[in-house]
Amino acid sequence: MSKILKLNEISGAVDDIFAPHGYKLVKECSDPDAVILRSFDMHSYNMPKSVLCVGRAGAGVNNIPHREYAEQGVVVFNTPGANANAVKELVVCALLLCGRKIVDGINWTQSLAGGRQDIPKSVESGKKAFAGGEILGKTLGVIGLGAIGRLVANTAVDLGMKVIGYDPYISIDAAWNLNHNVQKETDLKSLLSKCDFVTLHVPYLDANKEMINEEALGAMKNGANLINCSRGELVDNAAVKAALKSGRLNRYVTDFPCEELLGTENLITIPHLGASTEEAEDNCAQMAAREIVDFIENGNITNSVNFPNCKSDRNGKMRITVFHKNVKNVISSVSDIIAKEGINISSFNSQSGGPMAYAILDIDEIISDATIDKIRKSDNIVRVRVIK
Ligand code: MLT
Repeated sequence: MSKILKLNEISGAVDDIFAPHGYKLVKECSDPDAVILRSFDMHSYNMPKSVLCVGRAGAGVNNIPHREYAEQGVVVFNTPGANANAVKELVVCALLLCGRKIVDGINWTQSLAGGRQDIPKSVESGKKAFAGGEILGKTLGVIGLGAIGRLVANTAVDLGMKVIGYDPYISIDAAWNLNHNVQKETDLKSLLSKCDFVTLHVPYLDANKEMINEEALGAMKNGANLINCSRGELVDNAAVKAALKSGRLNRYVTDFPCEELLGTENLITIPHLGASTEEAEDNCAQMAAREIVDFIENGNITNSVNFPNCKSDRNGKMRITVFHKNVKNVISSVSDIIAKEGINISSFNSQSGGPMAYAILDIDEIISDATIDKIRKSDNIVRVRVIK
């Protein structure tokens, strides 16, 4: 029976996937086969050697040292798109919060409680302080057109906004699914200079740390609004604070409150609720569970962030999977070792991407432990699994 260690609370919907396979979800375990988590920080986590894969129920993987895990042959999966609708809906809410003084108005009406005044009369006379603008006809810039950015862009078109999208790495799938009214922009500064609202939908990587800095804010339209439901690190907080104070930025809505920002006027903070809906939590948990099961049972890789996708139907008496460095001649030496035993490889799927590569070999007969050992000891091999 496979044991799956959960490092965070995970939606109970995960059992719909694990239970039929007889997998046990545990809170503590010294030798789990896999780990499932949400935002638990694995950077200082001492991971048991038994772990074959990590399933992140969510999109961002900055809480997981996935490059290091790749070196150990531990596959890290995420669940792209599974919470996209939830985040999109929060971004639509953020657009409205930017355009209208809804939060200030709510806080003000609550402050009237317990007073002696006639509330309806006070509301009617006080509401003029909270008048705002509409989003219809305004321009929205969407930075990053992955699963979430694409949905945001399409919905904003449906809401009557003009939408400009920027994504130098857009996938073919995302491009196919983008509303044709979304205007393409290849220069970030140019996008920033044209938009009334800008929303971020890129993963946090070293390369884009504080991409919205003083210079980027300076390129934005005066009085524009910024929405960040991606990661706090994408924005230089000191620069945003200054821009809010000077009025250059009308509002900053962030799903990532922090000490440095709290208390700033015209800042709207949300406690990382982007993906916190029942539906998104169920979707993410189940998608991560499916990825884990298919990997444990078949060695198939779908939606990994540290190994290439590689998947094939079972075909043969045994399957071996080989994790190796993405360098020349590794697979030829593996097949040479198998050929020397006079055994036929019935099917073979090898994929590479970045520094790592992965191969699935289905074999007609059972290979001896000694041969598997020889493969393990070959140059540039990271891990070998035998799946019977
Ligand atoms: C994500 O990365 O999927 C979202 O930020 C939500 C989460 O962290 O779970």
